[in-house]
Amino acid sequence: MTLPDSAAVAAQIAAFESDLAQAKNARDAQPIRDRYLGRKNSVVASWMQTIATAPADQKKTIGRFANELKQAIEERWTRYVQQAEMSARPAGAVDVTLPGRIPALGHRHPLTIVRDRMEEIFTRMGFATVEGPEVEDEWHCFDALNMPADHPARDMQDTLYLGSPICGEGGDSDPRTLLRTHTSSIQIRYMLAHQPPIRIIAPGRVYRRDDLDLTHTPMFTQVEGLVVGEGISLGDLKGTLVAFARDMFGPKSRLRFRPSFFPYTEPSAEVDISCWKCDGAGCPMCKKTGWLEILGSGMVHPAVFEAVGYDPERFTGFAWGRGVERVAILRYQVDDIRLFYENDLRFLEQFPY
Ligand code: DAH
Repeated sequence: MTLPDSAAVAAQIAAFESDLAQAKNARDAQPIRDRYLGRKNSVVASWMQTIATAPADQKKTIGRFANELKQAIEERWTRYVQQAEMSARPAGAVDVTLPGRIPALGHRHPLTIVRDRMEEIFTRMGFATVEGPEVEDEWHCFDALNMPADHPARDMQDTLYLGSPICGEGGDSDPRTLLRTHTSSIQIRYMLAHQPPIRIIAPGRVYRRDDLDLTHTPMFTQVEGLVVGEGISLGDLKGTLVAFARDMFGPKSRLRFRPSFFPYTEPSAEVDISCWKCDGAGCPMCKKTGWLEILGSGMVHPAVFEAVGYDPERFTGFAWGRGVERVAILRYQVDDIRLFYENDLRFLEQFPY
């Protein structure tokens, strides 16, 4: 066989095209294709073989011609098949050769991103995620959390009561039906339904009588955490929160525990994290203190265990609660909390999925 050159390439392409033109349909065309492109004894295959036997100084040129021919014939074959499909389909049918439509991908809301991230970290630490009702009663939201009716701590949270109370579990309509002011009510519901050991986080919306401004909305999001068992200590609380903070905000994060007060924990601590923008040096974000306040926490008060029927002599535990908006505000440096609820796509699209 003579060695391939560009005239031979052109001649073979022309021959392939005229052979194809003879075919009445795609089934007729298949053997023609095989004759040129088949793996064995085809025109292209034999050209490829000549590469192996050609003198060393010609291998490269022959290889190029052989590949050129192969590509040209493949391309013509693809085009032929597409055209055959088009003419075979009934009028109005879908044109399968058109490129597909790329679906528009949505974004997760920034609050969802933060909440999911928290859930992911705690799930890895063995926590279950649970939920509870947004419409609550005073007992679950306050009384069982060691805040009886006259307790001054109730003033800390301005509560929204329902104008038309709904029926409670016993079928009674409870006039003290409210929108939960914190996710701590989920602690109570979960402990009533389960025995220790307990390791849960409970995210959800909470409601307070606040006017809208840069830093307040009457509805916001919290994530509650609760661990109960035998021999659980303040050291476990610290270790858990430090592990979480390092994962969420970076391995260099430090936590600071300040004594505080919550009726449902004793002792109680307000937890600050070293500012991740200035690494504790002091900047406008941390108001030059080097610290950002992120959550409330403490060891579960024995009165709370009594309310849910746990033996406070036997069990100990810790809990914490935090606002998701505050984390998102600090994380993404958002200066107006209302942006999270206005659904303005120009704002929402700025957060990486
Ligand atoms: N419920 C508190 C709030 O809404 C946050 C909180 C503080 C929750 C201490 C806790 C805790 O579980 O132990 O501000």
